[in-house]
Amino acid sequence: NEISNIEAKQHVADQIAQRAKDGDVIGIGSGSTAFLALQSIAQYVKEKGYKVTAIPTSQEVMMTCTTLGIPTTTLATAKPDWAFDGADEVDPNHNLIKGRGGAMFHEKLVMASSPENYILIDQSKFVNHLGQKFPVPIEVDQRALHLVETKLSTFPVEQVQLRQATAKDGPVITEAGNLILDVHFSTIDKKDEVRLAGIPGVIETGLFIDYDVNILSI
Ligand code: A5P
Repeated sequence: NEISNIEAKQHVADQIAQRAKDGDVIGIGSGSTAFLALQSIAQYVKEKGYKVTAIPTSQEVMMTCTTLGIPTTTLATAKPDWAFDGADEVDPNHNLIKGRGGAMFHEKLVMASSPENYILIDQSKFVNHLGQKFPVPIEVDQRALHLVETKLSTFPVEQVQLRQATAKDGPVITEAGNLILDVHFSTIDKKDEVRLAGIPGVIETGLFIDYDVNILSI
């Protein structure tokens, strides 16, 4: 239920906070679990008198860091010592689907740049195979929308939806100015991921396959 879900998230948030060391540059993921972890980290480093710097994966996270008094930097000028993030699905091999928040492009850049990655989840995120509960988000350059839709018809696709904003009319526009297609596949594997990445105009997908991540869950 919702309450024990929140407790589970808070538990992993507190666990991750204790990994912070003085001087660390930490990649900060997006989503509600990452948000709780960031709050715990802010409290922990304040108590210890540590100085850490954050590399946020979205504007929203950047603003939260500022509110919490954690200085931020970017991948253009710094490299994370470690990073943490949430996930929408985790399969038995620790492959992930991410991107409900639409920040998977930046999230993947931070994860790929970080030598150590922690994924914070509650039990509801474990699936037998990717795509079981969530569609795969694909960030697409606006000019390539029709091209990508056409190419997707050569994949085992069940449904393709252009992600729509909820608080306003029209499609979601990512921080990089792109659109998101939410794609339900009947099956999805590494081969499909490589083929998807090869379509002109596909900026990034929410498939995080073969990343060496540490899963923290209860
Ligand atoms: C953001 O783009 C996502 O990848 C999130 O990390 C993911 O949706 C997990 O969010 P929750 O922790 O809120 O479930």
